Amino acid sequence: MDHFLYRDGSLWAEDVSVAEIAAQVGTPFYLYSTATLTRHFRLFDEALDWGPHLVCYAMKAASNQAILKTLAAEGAGMDVVSGGEYARALAAGVPGDKIVFSGVGKTHDEIRAALTGGIRQFNVESEPEMRVISEVATSLGVIAPITVRVNPDVDAKTHAKIATGKSENKFGIPIARAKEVYAEAARLPGLKIVGIDVHIGSQLTQLEPFQQAYQKVADLTEALRADGHDITRLDLGGGLGIPYTRSNEAPPLPTEYGAMVRDTLAHLGCEIEIEPGRLIAGNAGILVSKVIYVKNGEGRDFLILDGAMNDLIRPAMYEAHHDIVPVVEPAPGVEQQPYDIVGPVCETGDTFAKERMMPPMQAGDLIAFRSAGAYGAVMASEYNTRPLIPEVLVKEDQFSVIRARPTYEEMINRDNVPVWL
Ligand code: LLP
Repeated sequence: MDHFLYRDGSLWAEDVSVAEIAAQVGTPFYLYSTATLTRHFRLFDEALDWGPHLVCYAMKAASNQAILKTLAAEGAGMDVVSGGEYARALAAGVPGDKIVFSGVGKTHDEIRAALTGGIRQFNVESEPEMRVISEVATSLGVIAPITVRVNPDVDAKTHAKIATGKSENKFGIPIARAKEVYAEAARLPGLKIVGIDVHIGSQLTQLEPFQQAYQKVADLTEALRADGHDITRLDLGGGLGIPYTRSNEAPPLPTEYGAMVRDTLAHLGCEIEIEPGRLIAGNAGILVSKVIYVKNGEGRDFLILDGAMNDLIRPAMYEAHHDIVPVVEPAPGVEQQPYDIVGPVCETGDTFAKERMMPPMQAGDLIAFRSAGAYGAVMASEYNTRPLIPEVLVKEDQFSVIRARPTYEEMINRDNVPVWL
């Protein structure tokens, strides 16, 4: 459920008209709903209410300070994957003891910054990384709390570019070698083992792969405890999918996920951490764009938008489907027609949808890409020297530009011209 609904014939975000925001901010722009963000966070939090837990929002999904502050105020922890994200989390007021540090290759500098600023745990991805974390911690005279990310060799049944839990993927250490790696971790002077970490992929639409992975984590917990390790936390990663189309088979609800986690892991008495990104931010955001031209091509009509692949890369990168709706609600019974919906970038890949059924559209009409809150703005670029588009946050009847569109001058002035030119 989200808070982008038609009201009086046009699309609203909570209690603000989308067309009104477009008139003030200019298109294209990302628009987020506070109510949807907090609703999704609470759904997870409540689904794990049966025991001690922390929901660490995977801020790679959408990392604007206003979004982080909104979630932090709800009690969210953060899952970060870079020094930049760590700095963003601290800047949003998230205390270090609520920040978990994931990511395949943490650098010395990132490790040092997190140990200095405070960290709940590092999710270690490899043995060399584990040794570096120990070295950096020892040099600072502190102990780094760690989990080791295990790769359970489970098929997440999602798009190949976002599946992470098979043995051929670069993530984590093979679960079969976990005992050995934990034994080394226990010997390293700068580390304290606190638990186990697993994340098998993103946009999972079934519970079964999660369940398989978590069962392996349960077995491993017992095995590691038998070896004398103190396993008190289980970080279960993110990955629960969202419905991108209304016709889609609905992915499991957070309540169903929470019940499965309880059934598989509660008996171990560990604190549960989860790292959802998409499910919190995905349907809490839309991308609003304008039709610049309607072009009648050979046997097809194109809607050419002012938004492009640099603003929303997901269709080009993952063949992702986003529902696209007109901001003016179509009159009941209006006949729809197929359009190829494209951006103005000179690449065929700059195509958002083919033969998408829409009511008749004209230049100047506004459209909205739904489910664009996660992996939208954060993956945008300035390709073609198109400015990064604004982000706007709505809360009830208020809205605020939470990141402004840069001017061309600001963009150009970021370049430095060498003295010899
Ligand atoms: N934890 C870890 C260690 C992760 O790598 C990820 C996502 C998450 C949590 C959050 O997963 P989520 O709950 O959002 O599924 N750009 C792609 C998605 C990449 C996901 C990468 N890792 C997309 O647009 O579909």
